[in-house]
Amino acid sequence: MNIITFDSDDKLNEAAANIIIGQIQTTPRAVLGLATGGTPVGIYKQLVNDYRRGMISFNNVTTFNLDEYVGLPIDHPESYHSYMNSHLFEHIDLPSSQCHIPDGNATDPEDECRRYDQLIELSGQIDLQLLGLGHNGHIGFNEPAHALIRGTHVVDLADETREANARYFTTINEVPAQALTMGVGTILKAKKILLVVKGADKADIVQRALQGPITTDCPASLLQTHPNLIVLLDKTAAGKLS
Ligand code: F6R
Repeated sequence: MNIITFDSDDKLNEAAANIIIGQIQTTPRAVLGLATGGTPVGIYKQLVNDYRRGMISFNNVTTFNLDEYVGLPIDHPESYHSYMNSHLFEHIDLPSSQCHIPDGNATDPEDECRRYDQLIELSGQIDLQLLGLGHNGHIGFNEPAHALIRGTHVVDLADETREANARYFTTINEVPAQALTMGVGTILKAKKILLVVKGADKADIVQRALQGPITTDCPASLLQTHPNLIVLLDKTAAGKLS
């Protein structure tokens, strides 16, 4: 595991964007796993700037997002489809046929999960998986549990997750109760994982995830087993690491 700490948000975002760009430049048809949430917003902004400056093309890239809410209309401002369009996809030359996000409105969610796993399988392996970290140790929406699920599945969102994401909705009641998420098995199969965490409120969980016991109670702790994990932290998120 390679942990790098930054004293400025700009430097962290630039470093993360450079890792993603480096992956695209060295892998002819790179497959990227993408995250949503507050953490990657600045990274996507940096990637859009780099694209506009002619530093990178996404024409041959394929992307798979980690998750999507169940039951939120695709054009709802807080759907992860809307998030990806507004923060990244509509600003770059990534063909829409190459961007994949689970369909949270599928009539048969189980079938949708199988379809999503097959698509990932068909694309080969995810070359680089970008991850954020939930306050409870979730990655994707793999919440703490007695056992974790390998592939894409429907998940009941933990109360902490709905509370954390309520900041994007008018009331917590509007936060969907379920999501479709890529499983931990798929995440760990990625060739390289880039975990990005910002903020003092994540310092405890960063410590547990990176230095605590490997346990399904903290799904991110399983990342300790990955042979190619890069962790980018701001100073405050790194505050409790020994
Ligand atoms: C988002 C995702 C989640 C977030 C996590 C952190 O696609 O899968 O695991 O990365 O909830 O969210 P933020 O960045 O908003 O703190």
